[in-house]
Amino acid sequence: MTDAKKLFIKTYGCQMNVYDSERMVEAMGADGYVTTDVIGDADMVLINTCHIREKASDKLFSDLGRLRPLKAAKPGLKIGVAGCVAQAEGAEILRRAPQVDVVVGPQSYHRLPQMVRAKGQVVDTDFPAEDKFDHLPQGRGAKGPTAFLTVQEGCDKFCAFCVVPYTRGAEVSRPPVRLLSEADALVARGVREITLLGQNVNAYHGDGWTLARLIRALAAIPGLQRIRYMTSHPNDMEDDLIAAHGDLPQLMPYLHLPVQSGSDRILKAMNRKHTRDDYLRLIDRIRTVRPDILFSSDFIVGFPGETDTDFAATLDLIDRVGYGAAYSFRYSARPGTPAAEKPDVAADVADARLQVLQAALTRQQRAAQDAMIGREVGVLYEKAGRQPVGKSDHLQAVHVDDPSGRVGELVRVRILASSTNSLAGVRIS
Ligand code: SAH
Ligand code: SF4
Ligand code: F3S
Repeated sequence: MTDAKKLFIKTYGCQMNVYDSERMVEAMGADGYVTTDVIGDADMVLINTCHIREKASDKLFSDLGRLRPLKAAKPGLKIGVAGCVAQAEGAEILRRAPQVDVVVGPQSYHRLPQMVRAKGQVVDTDFPAEDKFDHLPQGRGAKGPTAFLTVQEGCDKFCAFCVVPYTRGAEVSRPPVRLLSEADALVARGVREITLLGQNVNAYHGDGWTLARLIRALAAIPGLQRIRYMTSHPNDMEDDLIAAHGDLPQLMPYLHLPVQSGSDRILKAMNRKHTRDDYLRLIDRIRTVRPDILFSSDFIVGFPGETDTDFAATLDLIDRVGYGAAYSFRYSARPGTPAAEKPDVAADVADARLQVLQAALTRQQRAAQDAMIGREVGVLYEKAGRQPVGKSDHLQAVHVDDPSGRVGELVRVRILASSTNSLAGVRIS
């Protein structure tokens, strides 16, 4: 018997890529590959890439540069590039990096094993008619009490700065029956919390179901204690989804709801199709049904044309909302997007704004963490030990004094201390 072949996989980008990497590992597993953390032992290196900002894309080519000597020493080594850079650049990757064997776009992952078996270089960036999910193993390797489940992919929104509609294609929703049976299988393997994923997850419309209907059906699965979803778009927060936040205890009180900017002028230039008031009203409506909910958002600073007044409006918006967490980025012009045609804001101005925004958001996050002190929260243990660690209902990391705690237990914890990135407490039941 020969040893199993070894796969080293590196994942950049969003949770969707994390999910996809798990599916590719399973697909390659069916072809005799096991994963390794030691790149020097690998028979195949697979890089799952992100194209969202220039820096993210550049990482691929520096990784590929470092792989060149490895391939020279081990000519049988297969090198694969997956993800959004693969989709955007296709065969161009082979031209720039001839050591690559396989380039596979996100909609063709079910074809990966056969591409790896093929001789010579292979590129597949189709948007095939068949559904890759029908051909990919689903979560057989799920470990631990939390899991992602992709319910929707692609985006039809075309924000002026964003490559996702081009790299992931049009919005496609998976059928609810498939999702319910996959969720059943995950729960049977010990999963207690499922995060539904989609580039525009609340635009879900599989077989005419809304996301709220899907969430309600999932909440009926015995043993599934927590449900989350991301990323949602403000314009797709329908009434039934808001209502679900008010009356479904399994739906956790944390919502990532990106706004990008607080200036109406910039929102319009970004093609977001909502105003700051639309967003603030939406936040109020959700807080009315679920007062303790925490919000997070993404922000872009230095979008073309952004003035000091526009930026001040963003700072004002965050003051009004009070975020529990947030991600902020300096605008990066992406080839092929409408905003890339416009003149950039000076780099030093954009950098200075980013620092101001990040400092303000960090203060808010710290305040939200501190506000948990004295409160009782649910914590799902993801790691056991002298001090088990898990996430609170509000998605904050919590360390608990509970040496007998087991992974997968959902316990009640009183929070005693906080820092910017984690909480500490004692188990009370
Ligand atoms: N579908 C999600 C996620 C999109 S990508 C959504 O609509 O929010 C994640 C984040 O990256 C975006 O929310 C945005 O803040 C940021 N982003 C996207 N394109 C960018 C660009 N060209 N430059 C800087 N940040 C960008
Ligand atoms: Fe990109 Fe906008 Fe679609 Fe989000 S909604 S993926 S930011 S185009
Ligand atoms: Fe990046 Fe593609 Fe996700 S561009 S953020 S990996 S959808």
